[in-house]
Amino acid sequence: MLHPLSAKAEAILRKNDRGGYTVPNGRVYPFQWNWDSAFVALGFDTFDRDRAWVEIETLMKGQWDDGFVPHIIFWTPDGGYFPGPAVWQTDKNPVTSGITQPPVAGTVLKQLWQSACAGGEQAAFRGRALALFDKVLKWHQWFARNRDFEGRGVVVAVHPWETGRDNSPEWDAPGLVIDTSNVGEYQRRDITHLDTKMRPTKADYDRYVTLVQFGRGLGWDHAAIGATSPFRVADVGMTMILLRANRDLLWLAQEFGLTDAAKALTEAVERSIAGVSYLWDDTIHAWCSRNTITGRSSGHITSTSFLSFYAGLRDPARDAASIAHLERISHKSRYLAPSLDVEDGQFDLMRYWRGPIWSVVNYMIAQGLAEAGFGDWAKRINDDTLSLIEVAGFYEAFSPIDGCGTGGEDFSWTAAIWLALQLQMAKA
Ligand code: GLC
Repeated sequence: MLHPLSAKAEAILRKNDRGGYTVPNGRVYPFQWNWDSAFVALGFDTFDRDRAWVEIETLMKGQWDDGFVPHIIFWTPDGGYFPGPAVWQTDKNPVTSGITQPPVAGTVLKQLWQSACAGGEQAAFRGRALALFDKVLKWHQWFARNRDFEGRGVVVAVHPWETGRDNSPEWDAPGLVIDTSNVGEYQRRDITHLDTKMRPTKADYDRYVTLVQFGRGLGWDHAAIGATSPFRVADVGMTMILLRANRDLLWLAQEFGLTDAAKALTEAVERSIAGVSYLWDDTIHAWCSRNTITGRSSGHITSTSFLSFYAGLRDPARDAASIAHLERISHKSRYLAPSLDVEDGQFDLMRYWRGPIWSVVNYMIAQGLAEAGFGDWAKRINDDTLSLIEVAGFYEAFSPIDGCGTGGEDFSWTAAIWLALQLQMAKA
């Protein structure tokens, strides 16, 4: 029998389905978001395979000619969101934002394909898989050209929103140099829907808007933005996610006998493996983001510090140091994995990406830990995700200390992760 919460999770996805794409949450986020859709597809795949594929196909309809895939596609107008199309001015059809988001779609594509094969539907999905493969590959190549200006094998974010971890303290120091004096007047919408104590401050928001204005001023020329933005931070989260996604695309290229693509992807993976140590902070023995302008590490241990396993990196000393951090945090935090180290001076149990737990990040951390042979830690993290949902509901995020829900409720990707974990447990 279907778990009652699984029925609820399916109902949330159906309710947030706008026909071909799913809004993260009807009230706060009324459009299609990039990495949200990738995770949402995993949820749909547990009960409606075709709909899962459509989610990614619709996302890829927002792809620009240069391979870029936007972080938001504004499928229908909604004045309740800021900044909307009038601020971005990207002049695209469909209407999109001008920055991207963590590239999880490639990894999800591999999972959807394996699931179709297991269900005996190779023939029905092969053409769709090949079409999506080409698009995702083009996006990954866009990353290499436009988000790795110095060719380090990492992903350099030019806006905190690109990282998907909007308000992480990792962006505080790099953000200080952004001159916000000309930002002008604007009206935020997030604080009309959500509690201000969960949301970024006015100073942070001024920086976000200034960076949008910067990109717009350059006509969304991605190469120019990547080379000259006042904010250029090598993000540990996106770097690990892209490395993983490149490995998964490589697997698909081999599966489909695409030798040229396989060769290019092998090189991309090797480049990242060679360069990723740039993000190892030798002082605190952790994976951290690094400001490419100053060369300084953020010095903050976040949930994405634990994605090296998911990226397939294996280094006994670094792995042991990462596990030691996880262990230390687990003694101070009731639930894992807080988006910021609970012992960090900036830790805030309710504020966006400064403490709360996101189920999607937990899902990736646990997957990586399981693959790396840390099954007990993987189980602990997956169990915590499930308990948080059971206790609080399908919230956007959760306080690691008391398990309270934070942000929006009936959240699509939280529902999707619940379903994906249920299926994973049923198979185990
Ligand atoms: C917030 C999150 C971002 C997510 C979006 C929609 O902006 O920080 O990662 O994609 O909400 O859920």
